[in-house]
Amino acid sequence: MVSSSLLRLGAKAAGEAVGVGGWSYAKIVEHLSPAVSKFSPVVAERGSGSYVWTTDGRKHLDFACGIGVLSTGHCHPRVVAAVQEQAAQIIMAQQNIFPASRPMVDLLQRLETVMPSQLTSHFFCNSGSEAVENAVKIARNYTGKQNIIAFDGAYHGRTYGAMALTTSKTVYRQTFGPFPSGVVNAPYPYCLHCKARQAAGGLGYEVAPNTPPLGKAYDQRQCCGGPLESLEWMFKTHSAPSETAAIIIEPILGEGGFLTPPPGFLSALRALCDKHDMLLIFDEVQCGVARTGKWWGHQHLTDAQPDMLLFAKGIASGVPFAGVSAKPHLYDKMSPGMMGGTYGGSALGCAAAAATLDVISGEGLLQNAADRGQQLAAGLLRLSEKYPIVDVRGRGLMMAAEFGGADGSLAARPHTAADVTHAAGLRGLLLLGAGARETVRFLPPLNVSESEMEEGLGLFEQSLEDVFGGGGDVRSA
Ligand SMILES: Cc1ncc(COP(=O)(O)O)c(C=O)c1O
Repeated sequence: MVSSSLLRLGAKAAGEAVGVGGWSYAKIVEHLSPAVSKFSPVVAERGSGSYVWTTDGRKHLDFACGIGVLSTGHCHPRVVAAVQEQAAQIIMAQQNIFPASRPMVDLLQRLETVMPSQLTSHFFCNSGSEAVENAVKIARNYTGKQNIIAFDGAYHGRTYGAMALTTSKTVYRQTFGPFPSGVVNAPYPYCLHCKARQAAGGLGYEVAPNTPPLGKAYDQRQCCGGPLESLEWMFKTHSAPSETAAIIIEPILGEGGFLTPPPGFLSALRALCDKHDMLLIFDEVQCGVARTGKWWGHQHLTDAQPDMLLFAKGIASGVPFAGVSAKPHLYDKMSPGMMGGTYGGSALGCAAAAATLDVISGEGLLQNAADRGQQLAAGLLRLSEKYPIVDVRGRGLMMAAEFGGADGSLAARPHTAADVTHAAGLRGLLLLGAGARETVRFLPPLNVSESEMEEGLGLFEQSLEDVFGGGGDVRSA
């Protein structure tokens, strides 16, 4: 039950919603696809750093960051300057007509310093979904095999090929089938809800296992081995290795709930791929580009290297830009014309991406993401003593809190996460849910300050009080 204070706040805010240019909010949305979810009745006006102002005059602390896109915050001056300068030079140097542009060369040089060393061949496109589609093309072409193994709960995008690999929520797929064939789903380890762990009375998993130095060290976490066994079984029952081109995985699951697989899991996938001549694709669209306090999310979990790494979102601070970074020999069987796209590698996007990488390196944002992530995890752990948060997990500034029941069980009341994000929105904190369970995710800018993080935690606490306070939902300490 949402508390009455929350309902009062909701009524007030709904009355305040203001349109723009003589159009009411209601009229604006009448002209927009109703199939796109809209989290708040506000119209964006401008952004700066960690804040957004809307046309109703309100200021919002943005811990959603365009779903993890605004890595350097809103309108970072160096990114803005790079985009403005580039727009005055050349906006678009089409990739078929000009193999490269000056800002593309700048970007290639920077990628050389941050990418895993064997991934030296880059294909640029505009969105994460496109990167996923192209990775599948490369894998099938190179291996001559058809099937792709994806994981339950994964989100790889909304185009048909990417949607076929996506199972984080049914709403992304329902009524849209049939989907392209050749996709096999394997279980992604969700240790909190693992039945073997529960049967064994814990099996080395406690709240915050993924946030060293807080809580139990991640490395000590034991795995029941179930997900890997399922994979081996799938090779016998669903897709023989001789038919399987690749395994695609988010090294830290994003939309599906910010899950980190147990130690050894990614390395085991690498070994399976090597054994069966399959490719390993890391989809780092959400967990990559310093989001977790390392350049790439997988670097927290394994020394094993992927054959392809996909990036988008945070790479260009909000300018649409994405890519597939691959081992060069994967193109041995391709000929010119087999891949492409009108806008891929636009000069504007390259300039924004190069500037973003410079800001991340030059302003110490890897360290800041790690430090502020610790601050966030500590704050959420503190709140878990008072409110029904059953797990705090993630790395760096990719952090989540999962809710459970008021009785301390894992069974949360339906819509808890939506109620909390709604309450936070009314208090001026932008947050998103994640996955099919009741989880709220935090994706602040990588340059969020210590005081902004404290402000965010304070607003989050007030939102929890709005939702749980006064009712029967506050966990008795
Ligand atoms: C891991 C992952 N892959 C792919 C995508 C799709 O990216 P886009 O929305 O840019 O197509 C997303 C988007 O959230 C994502 O999180």
